[in-house]
Amino acid sequence: MCGIIGINSNKPVSATIINSLKKLEYRGYDSAGIATLSSGLINEIKSEGRVDNLEKNSLVQNMEGTIGIGHVRWATHGSPNSINAHPHSSQNVSVVHNGIIENSTLLKNMLVKKGHKFKSQTDTEVIVHLITENLKKENIVNSIKKTLKELQGSFALGIIFKDEPDLIVGARRGSPLAVGYGPNENYLGSDSYALKSMTNKITYLNDGEFCVIKKDHVEFFSEEGNKINKKVLELSNEEEKYDKGDYKHFMAKEIEEQPITLKNGIKEYIDSVNDEINIYNIPWKKNEISSIILIGCGTAYHSCLMAKYWFEELTSLDVNVDIASEFRYRKNRFKKDSLYVFVSQSGETADTYAALDLCKKNDMKTCAVVNVIESSIARDSEFVLPIHCGTEIGVASTKAFLGQILILYILSLKLGVLRGDLEKKALSLKLKHLKELPKLVEQTLLTDNKIQNVSNTFNQAKGSMFLGRGFSYPIALEGALKLKELSYIHAEGYPAGEMKHGPLALIEEGMPVVVLAPRDDYYKKTISNMQEVIARGAKVLLITNKSDDEVVSENIWETIEVESTNQDLLPFLLTIPLQKLAYYSALKKGYDIDKPRNLAKSVTVE
Ligand code: AGP
Repeated sequence: MCGIIGINSNKPVSATIINSLKKLEYRGYDSAGIATLSSGLINEIKSEGRVDNLEKNSLVQNMEGTIGIGHVRWATHGSPNSINAHPHSSQNVSVVHNGIIENSTLLKNMLVKKGHKFKSQTDTEVIVHLITENLKKENIVNSIKKTLKELQGSFALGIIFKDEPDLIVGARRGSPLAVGYGPNENYLGSDSYALKSMTNKITYLNDGEFCVIKKDHVEFFSEEGNKINKKVLELSNEEEKYDKGDYKHFMAKEIEEQPITLKNGIKEYIDSVNDEINIYNIPWKKNEISSIILIGCGTAYHSCLMAKYWFEELTSLDVNVDIASEFRYRKNRFKKDSLYVFVSQSGETADTYAALDLCKKNDMKTCAVVNVIESSIARDSEFVLPIHCGTEIGVASTKAFLGQILILYILSLKLGVLRGDLEKKALSLKLKHLKELPKLVEQTLLTDNKIQNVSNTFNQAKGSMFLGRGFSYPIALEGALKLKELSYIHAEGYPAGEMKHGPLALIEEGMPVVVLAPRDDYYKKTISNMQEVIARGAKVLLITNKSDDEVVSENIWETIEVESTNQDLLPFLLTIPLQKLAYYSALKKGYDIDKPRNLAKSVTVE
């Protein structure tokens, strides 16, 4: 949830740190700060809000020092202001931190008794004073080792020292951290994305490890303080263009990129000539798996819910879905023949990673469906299915959602065929429809004007409901999440058949309600549910697919028709108008669409 950068160089580092922090703002943007070592002193400058505010500070522009650390924050302890911004420094030590120190209150009380003075409300500041205290008796490596042992909770740390003007220390437990290697300089960063513009040679720290970064070499240490060797990975060099192009927002660009996302996924996983699915070297035999548990957070969780319907439809597997933050504390019954699938765009979500770690500790089979193939979840899963949708910058996930459900759909087809649950002939027909999907999405993206009009009603509403049955229910949840996180309007996704069991009481005159009713097996039932809410005054936006037969109902406020295809694939098309509805609602409110308030792109704290 926060972004860390550190640079140890033979030339001034402040400008490079600031540029790297701008690339890290997707991880948090409440506040930002930088600290460098020069003339034997720690110079620390911090500001509230975006990195631009920090950069405007003339002191930053003239900041000296060839060693420095920087940080962008998403507040966990203490409000987002310049006092609580990182780095946090004493006279001798400066620290940037991503994670949560769970015993910070206890440690703070102990340190205050020893005379330490605290300036901020953060848990991080405890680390500064604890290291300062330990340095009184130990050398650097031992004081770091001792400090890490005393900390409970999660951290990725970057630390510089007044009396050690040639090194930066990095340490990791539960929050990702990487080292990068450059010419006459070396780097520390929250992830490879932060370092990509400077190097493609990366080493990832594992939990418990720490490192000492000099300008010409890096030493790695185990939790016990023993020197260890670590692999240097060469990441792919293709530096995609991360700019918005002609779009006003990254989210707008990423919505329009979805046909390409689907094309990439289909090209990667479908052998169109032989009607085969290119998922090979699955590390388990078909009779070793009899159940699948899909785990994720937020939009990724909705992808898991969507996949449940497909796995149940196309395979004889038992299928369960769980929210990662619930799963990790549940009294789980781990069974040998279960396959755990972790869905995550960033591959760094703390709750999802913790769920993966728990499964690995119980010797479970693990598979990751991720967008960032160098991510922690990908690296630590036995089997990885990348979604290949390119970098997604908008905090509200769009193309990654379609990429996730595409790969999960393809996986359900593959396992269906492998297990003999899906006939080859049936597979060929499904693949035929699948290959047409990018074009259908392209056509559905054109339903723009009507969406812009109806968004006026949504952005003035007190609240709204999104209803769907069967395949459409996970999409209703996703549509509601999009509207919530972009326009800050309360929106609730609900199973259409459940309304009469309570939520119908919410419906009042003029309340906007989205009803997803494609012509699938659930169509007639959903139309009945729609009439129940219309009868109570709801303004219904019906989203269905093109068809020759008329919708049998009156008093529908607006209807949007997406393209038609087989019912497995209708969820892809229903998603498009919902993404645009959320986008235009937020646009009309003038909110920051790519960086909505209180959120971050990668939630690396629990
Ligand atoms: C989606 O629009 C949200 N930004 C959020 O729910 C996100 O899907 C969730 O935090 C999971 O992120 P991940 O896919 O990177 O694990």
